[in-house]
Amino acid sequence: MEEGGFIGVFDSGVGGLSVWSEIVRQLPHERTVYVADQAHVPYGCRSLDEVRAFAEGITRFLLDQGAAIIVVASNTASAAALYHLRKTFPRVPFVGMEPALKPAVERTGTGAVGVIATPATFQGELFTNLVKRCNGDVRLHSQACPGLVEVVEAGALDCTETESLLKSYLSPMIEADIDQLVLGCTHYPFLRPVIERLMGPGTTVIDPAPSVARQVANVLTQQGTRTAMASSTDSKPRCRHEADHIFYTSSDVAAFSHVIKQLLSPSLADRPVVRPVVWPADRMEMRVD
Ligand code: DGL
Repeated sequence: MEEGGFIGVFDSGVGGLSVWSEIVRQLPHERTVYVADQAHVPYGCRSLDEVRAFAEGITRFLLDQGAAIIVVASNTASAAALYHLRKTFPRVPFVGMEPALKPAVERTGTGAVGVIATPATFQGELFTNLVKRCNGDVRLHSQACPGLVEVVEAGALDCTETESLLKSYLSPMIEADIDQLVLGCTHYPFLRPVIERLMGPGTTVIDPAPSVARQVANVLTQQGTRTAMASSTDSKPRCRHEADHIFYTSSDVAAFSHVIKQLLSPSLADRPVVRPVVWPADRMEMRVD
């Protein structure tokens, strides 16, 4: 990575942290900047045009700060904007997300696969193309799950209301005998313990975050932009200093800091550097108090 370059990661809120933490685990020497656009969460109930405009504004913000690669850590923003971002910024490497249907289709024994995601993700061209590529003879059960993103944003990961909401979405899939459940929204891995409890041991839950992080590592290696230390296999992580990872939120800094402590392991969320950003019109900017 060039001097000053970093991995830019963004989502509508805290969901993309499920991807961010895998990136940090696999690439412990790289600097990251994470943007949570909590002023607009949830993206999944908005139009694809609206989400595309947010994704472009955040990308410009991250590039202005010096991002060397952008990870769209959101299935919804990828569905709405990935093609557009690649066209608009042809020299920037982007890594996006799509529901991990391929491994689910390859592994199923019952011939039934489930995908849970936001309503917007299912509307995007990305999902339609993915289904065409992978469906085969498999019965695919797609379930949009409004409300789940809000639950994760609030840190209500394991309570009665969350369990009832999940039950209402997952029961038809249990009845349909699915044995692979794809988490098609980056917020959902934080609900994994409840999801696994409800689905039972016969269902494999698939979270694409580890393979997305591997993809980030591959892109950096191909571009020759990984730090010299990072590409050395026997090196130890360099001593962390405060600004190796910076978080921005377009909503409340204190609330974001509180919730990430709940979601991330203490080693990752210890004294996070969280700063505010604002949206005057369609540009994301740092808030100056
Ligand atoms: N976490 C994002 C996703 O993967 C966005 C969810 C939302 O804001 O609705 O789709």
